[in-house]
Amino acid sequence: MPKLTVPKIASYKHRNKKIVMVTAYDATFARLIDQAKVDMVLVGDSLGMVVQGHNSTLPVTVDDVIYHCRAVSRGLERAHLCADMPFMSYKISPEQALETAGKMVQKGRAESVKLEGGVKMAETIAKIVSAGIPVVGHVGLTPQSMHAMGGFKMQGKTDPDRDRIIKDAKAVTDAGAFCVVLESMPLELAQAITAEITVPTIGIGAGLHCDGQVLVIYDMLGMNEEFTPRFLKRYAELGQMTREAVSQFADEVRKGTFPAEKHSVSLKSDLSKQAEPIYAQATARKTESEQ
Ligand code: KIV
Repeated sequence: MPKLTVPKIASYKHRNKKIVMVTAYDATFARLIDQAKVDMVLVGDSLGMVVQGHNSTLPVTVDDVIYHCRAVSRGLERAHLCADMPFMSYKISPEQALETAGKMVQKGRAESVKLEGGVKMAETIAKIVSAGIPVVGHVGLTPQSMHAMGGFKMQGKTDPDRDRIIKDAKAVTDAGAFCVVLESMPLELAQAITAEITVPTIGIGAGLHCDGQVLVIYDMLGMNEEFTPRFLKRYAELGQMTREAVSQFADEVRKGTFPAEKHSVSLKSDLSKQAEPIYAQATARKTESEQ
């Protein structure tokens, strides 16, 4: 299966083809998401909340993202892999940002990096892009600035705020970002930005007119049950399914009905059949990707 390239993804806008992006943090989800023909997989710093259990993305480190990114890369064949640049890993200087982006590609096997911010990040984006690393912009609600924004709040409610976000999206595009995430804003604003800029917009809580959409995998699968914003559609109820499945396992273990005979190997059976490695497939996969 050929890899989706950055030029191909960027061309979707002019071909009226929507971009589908989903987050992932491990190889198992990455493999399933890839098989579902998603275009872009984001190792988001949302991992701080949905994987690590923090109440913001701020504690996430560069090493955390690299660790999850390497795992995700092993599960992907076709989808493009984008790594989020975590808090304080790129805002000190463009040089710091380039160094972080380089680590994401070299150690994390990312194929692009995403960073939050607009006009103020233009020089930084240009520097990373000029080093040959594709950049995804992120404007509107930028969760790493949650304290300055007064929490995770919808942006673009006033005229000056809308003007600011439009300027941010244009600056990010002019600096060379190949697509821009628009987070949490009125659909009319996202529509105006989508019409104005030449690169694709990927919305989350930004309405239906964006060139693509992104969701956090745990949210869309109903595993993060307390998180119920208006923009979120749950495509499954894996939280409930997980509880039910684990309770059933616990019941069966306690009652002694699992494991049954068919899950066990007896000395009376043909033990030569047991010579095949139980984890053959997983072993092969790991060996290939570690080369
Ligand atoms: O960290 C993340 O998952 C993100 C997406 C929500 C866009 O930035």
